[in-house]
Amino acid sequence: MARILVTGGTGYIGSHTVVELMQSGFEVLIVDNLSNSNIQVLDGIEKIVGRRPDFAQLDVADLPKMRELLEKYTDIVAVIHFAASKAVGESVEKPLLYYRNNVLSLVNLLEVMKERGITNLVFSSSCTVYGQPSKEHLPVDETAPIQPALSPYGNTKQINEEIIRDEAHADSSLNAIILRYFNPIGAHPSALIGELPNGVPNNLLPFVTQTAAGLRKELKIFGNDYNTPDGSCIRDYINVVDLAKAHVVAVNRMLKVELRDRVEYFNLGTGRGLSVIEIVDTFEKVTGVKVPHTIVGRREGDIEKVWADPRKANEVLGWKATATVEETLLSAWNWQRHLSE
Ligand code: UFG
Repeated sequence: MARILVTGGTGYIGSHTVVELMQSGFEVLIVDNLSNSNIQVLDGIEKIVGRRPDFAQLDVADLPKMRELLEKYTDIVAVIHFAASKAVGESVEKPLLYYRNNVLSLVNLLEVMKERGITNLVFSSSCTVYGQPSKEHLPVDETAPIQPALSPYGNTKQINEEIIRDEAHADSSLNAIILRYFNPIGAHPSALIGELPNGVPNNLLPFVTQTAAGLRKELKIFGNDYNTPDGSCIRDYINVVDLAKAHVVAVNRMLKVELRDRVEYFNLGTGRGLSVIEIVDTFEKVTGVKVPHTIVGRREGDIEKVWADPRKANEVLGWKATATVEETLLSAWNWQRHLSE
């Protein structure tokens, strides 16, 4: 039986990916330090899949512990590395924490992979590496230039990509697929797992659902004076289950075919850009619930507009985002209601 090591597997995208992997017949070992997730996520996964993934609570940056753990597992055929800190604002306040959590952990992981003879890595990257693409690069494809990062968080993603590229260059046994996510939203249709933000959410969707549930007074829309049709920022919002499925496809690709390049890059998005105001309006329409909101000033560091050209992933991986934004927003709302029960 083939096993996948999933770091950060109790997190938002990680947990949805674990479900899809297990439903595709893989065994899973999750490593997570639970710094931004909850052990009960394992119950949700078990309820959906009918079996429980193996789990170890530890920090990927703890090299001796990682070594000790992986000595017990001889069936790991690939690693999906999600474990990372991801709050842009916090990274500006605590850069060292971000370099430790996001950079040191990848270096350690690559070292133990090498020691154990594990040669396949899927890495969680972000469209943040493109910054604000110029007009001729929208929608943005994988050939668009990488721009200087706007935050330590964004910088860690760029550095991680470079570390993987350099290591693959030096070690010809390493294969890597780097997935650049656009904005993942929504929850599993069972409403048994979803996004669990700590404290006040930074991201749009959890703020919208918490406001709709009456947990927050009102949503602040950051700016309506951008150069976009309604003045609010545009993003490519992708359903988290669609995103999770892309990881299973990536793992299978590494196990079954020789990669064109030993490091491959794919944008994972829908190809459609939606504004903040469109998201709020559509959410209200599909749920029938009002989201009190007000327009405030711009948020520092926000990109005006970015959406994906996902054709490379569509053609090479044979993967496509299929969920509609309506069903995705409804799934986010169902998850919020499950949390409030
Ligand atoms: N927004 C609001 N109000 C809120 C929260 C967000 O108006 O309360 C707006 C933002 O200004 C932005 C859009 O909603 O226009 C999406 O914001 P998110 O914070 O949900 O997502 P971002 O696109 O800013 O950030 C995401 C990831 C980051 C990643 C970045 C790369 O969360 O990890 O994409 O572009 F770095």
